[in-house]
Amino acid sequence: MKDAQGYVTADGRQIGGVLMEMKNITLRFGGVVAINDISFDIREGEIRAIIGPNGAGKSSMLNIISGFYTPTEGEVFYKGEIRPQMKPYEVARMGVARTFQNIALFEGMTVLDNVMTGRLTHMNAGLFSQALWWGRARDEEMDNREHVERVIDFLEIQNIRKTPVGRLPYGLKKRVELARALAAEPSLLLLDEPMAGMNVEEKEDMSRFILDVNDEFGTTIALIEHDMGVVMDLSDRVVVMDYGKKIGDGTPDEVRGNQAVIDAYLGVAH
Ligand SMILES: Nc1ncnc2c1ncn2[C@@H]1O[C@H](COP(=O)(O)OP(=O)(O)OP(=O)(O)O)[C@@H](O)[C@H]1O
Ligand SMILES: [Mg+2]
Repeated sequence: MKDAQGYVTADGRQIGGVLMEMKNITLRFGGVVAINDISFDIREGEIRAIIGPNGAGKSSMLNIISGFYTPTEGEVFYKGEIRPQMKPYEVARMGVARTFQNIALFEGMTVLDNVMTGRLTHMNAGLFSQALWWGRARDEEMDNREHVERVIDFLEIQNIRKTPVGRLPYGLKKRVELARALAAEPSLLLLDEPMAGMNVEEKEDMSRFILDVNDEFGTTIALIEHDMGVVMDLSDRVVVMDYGKKIGDGTPDEVRGNQAVIDAYLGVAH
């Protein structure tokens, strides 16, 4: 049963209460209404998909969750309280990490160094002690390195840890970007088309990693994906957007049977 405390899925996973709630979100860019009065929530521990045709407003929605965009209207609630307008780094410190639709890695840096940048939100020691490589800064650095190595093992990229990212094939770059996001130990992970441009085998690998992250760390995941098979396999619930509006919201089965969703995907005229 879906109540305020949560519920158990058919495959025995525990879904908790509402972690984040988007309430009547509208986002305008000049005359363009990218998001038009959309509300939905994300529950603790779930894999929540956002789907919809190109230009539907999906990335804009993730950008609002991560603090990159400020909604023109509406509110974001975090654990039941209104989240004040925050800078992206402040949202990151609250435990939200993301990957980008267009890979955003440092191409000239190694995999290891790229993944280390994911720890930046955890680095607290002052510049002075860091400069002296002393005490707290040294402990922190060791913790960070240990954590990063765990993530690298988890995503099975040990063999490329010293390789510059620019030399990697596309599918592996996507995995490195996931590693960087995981390095931050997020409680909410936002993935903008994590499997776009991948072949079948790479998609299977990425799906498995996403499920493992959710399973092993209890990480809540919101992801945008165009491959319907992947979405249906991975997600607990799906929000469907079209032209900035929400046209469906429910389990994969509910959404699959929704006529408005079928029309949007078959390109029926609006
Ligand atoms: N920074 C921006 N400035 C102006 N318009 C924008 C901006 N970002 C998005 N838009 C517009 O908002 C609408 C929604 O774009 P968005 O990128 O959120 O769609 P999407 O669903 O992620 O599409 P895709 O599947 O192609 O990635 C589009 O019309 C887009 O042109
Ligand atoms: Mg997008």
